[in-house]
Amino acid sequence: MVYSEQKLMATPDQDKSFPFPPGFLWGAATSPTQVEGHIENEWTQFTASDGGNCHIACDHYHRYPEDIDWMSRLGLNAYRFGIEWSRLQSAPGAPLNPAALAHYVDVLDQLRAAGITPMVVLHHFSNPPWINARGGWTNAATIACFEDYVRKLVAALKDRVYLWNTFNEPDTYACVAYLMGGFPPHRKWKLGQFRRVVENMARAHVKASRIIRREGLAGLKPQVGIAKNWTFFHAYQNYSLWDRATAWVCHYTFNKFVLDAFLGRWRRRASTFIGLNYYGRVRFHHFRAMIPASGTPIKDIKSFGFVCDDMVERYPEGLEKILDYLHRKFRLPIYITEHGAASDDEPFRELDLQRNLQALHRSMASAVDVRGFFYWSLMDNFEWQFGYTKKFGLLGVDFRDAKLPRTMKPLAEVYSRICRENAIRAAQPTVAED
Ligand code: BGC
Repeated sequence: MVYSEQKLMATPDQDKSFPFPPGFLWGAATSPTQVEGHIENEWTQFTASDGGNCHIACDHYHRYPEDIDWMSRLGLNAYRFGIEWSRLQSAPGAPLNPAALAHYVDVLDQLRAAGITPMVVLHHFSNPPWINARGGWTNAATIACFEDYVRKLVAALKDRVYLWNTFNEPDTYACVAYLMGGFPPHRKWKLGQFRRVVENMARAHVKASRIIRREGLAGLKPQVGIAKNWTFFHAYQNYSLWDRATAWVCHYTFNKFVLDAFLGRWRRRASTFIGLNYYGRVRFHHFRAMIPASGTPIKDIKSFGFVCDDMVERYPEGLEKILDYLHRKFRLPIYITEHGAASDDEPFRELDLQRNLQALHRSMASAVDVRGFFYWSLMDNFEWQFGYTKKFGLLGVDFRDAKLPRTMKPLAEVYSRICRENAIRAAQPTVAED
C-alpha cells in the first residue's frame, strides 16, 4: 500500500461508514510471557500482586492452533506476537534450539494458511536467564548477543516474516524494571541504569535493523521498527508548578529521551516504520499520578471526573495528536501496535474502541500514513505485576478452569465486524457514556 492510496474514499455522511484503505491490517497482539506458559525467563519466579504467575498463562504455546482458529473467526488479517529468545538460545552464540524453532515455524505456517500476516516482536520485557545473569541490558555486551540471535532467527524465518518489531516499549521496560522496581530485576530509582538500558537497546535496534534489511530479503521487503508506548503526561491543574514539572520530567524521560535514542538524527534511518502503543494519559495532582495502575483509589479518580479503564485515563483525542506529531516529525509509516482497554465493563470498552478508531480515522483522513491496528490483546492474559486481574482480551479465558476455555466477549463481536468490513460505522455504540 503506498501513501497515495490511503485516500479514504467515502464520506461518512453519505453511507454512515468510515472506510479504511484496502490492505489495512486489522490484528490483535500478545507477548510470549503473557500468553505462552512453560517459559524459563526472569518472570518464571515472579509472583504478581494477585498471587498469579506466568507458569501456564493461557497455554498458548500448546493451544496456538485453536487460537489461530479464533483469530480467523474474529476476521483478523494480522497477528502481532513475540518469539521468546530464552527458548531459542541457551548460551551466547549458541545455535537456535531446533524444537523451539520448529514450534514458531509451525505457528507462522498456520497463520499463513489462515491468511493472517504476522508481525514478529523480538523483545517484549524478557530475556534469557544467561543474559540476565550478566546484567541484562545494562551490559553493552548484550547488544552483540542480540545481534547474533537476530541474525540466526532472520536467516531461519525470512521467507515467512517481513514485519519485524525489534523492541516492545523500551521505555516501559527500562522504567518499570530500573526506576519503579515493578519488573525484574526490581531496581528502584537507578536513573543511570534506566538510561543505559534504553541506549543499549537503541544501539541493538540499529544493528538488528541492518541485519533484517540486508539479510532478511526473501519475499516482501522486510520492514522494521520499534513499538513506542506513548503516554501523555499532564498536570491536573495548570497553575500547579510542581505537577507541571513532574509531568514535564516524565514526558522528557519516557517520551522524548526514548524517541531521540531510537529515532533521533541518523538513527531514524534504522526504522522503516514506527510502532505506536497508545493507551492514554496520566495526570498529576500533588505529585500523584491519578490512574488506577499507580494504585490511586478509583473513588479519588472518579471525583476528578476522569474516565479510566482499570489502568490509565482514556484520552482518544490524544491518539490524533500523537499520530500527527510522529507523522510530521519522522515521515515514516505507522502501525498502531497496541491499543486496548482493561475492564469487565464491555460497553465501556466498546465506546473506548470506537472513539480511538474514530480518532485514528480522522488522522488518516488528514494524510497520516497508518498501515494497521493491533488490539491489545487477543485474549485475557498475565498482566505482569498485576497478574490475571486486568482483562484486556477480545477473548475471555477462564483461568479457574484447568482447560483454560476461551470465549468470545461482546467487544470481540464489535471488533470482528470492523475487521471484516474494514470500516467503522458512524453510529455511536448502543450504550450511554455513564
Ligand atoms: C505492554 C503489554 C501490556 C499492555 C497493557 C503494554 O505496555 O506492551 O505487555 O500488557 O501494555 O498494560
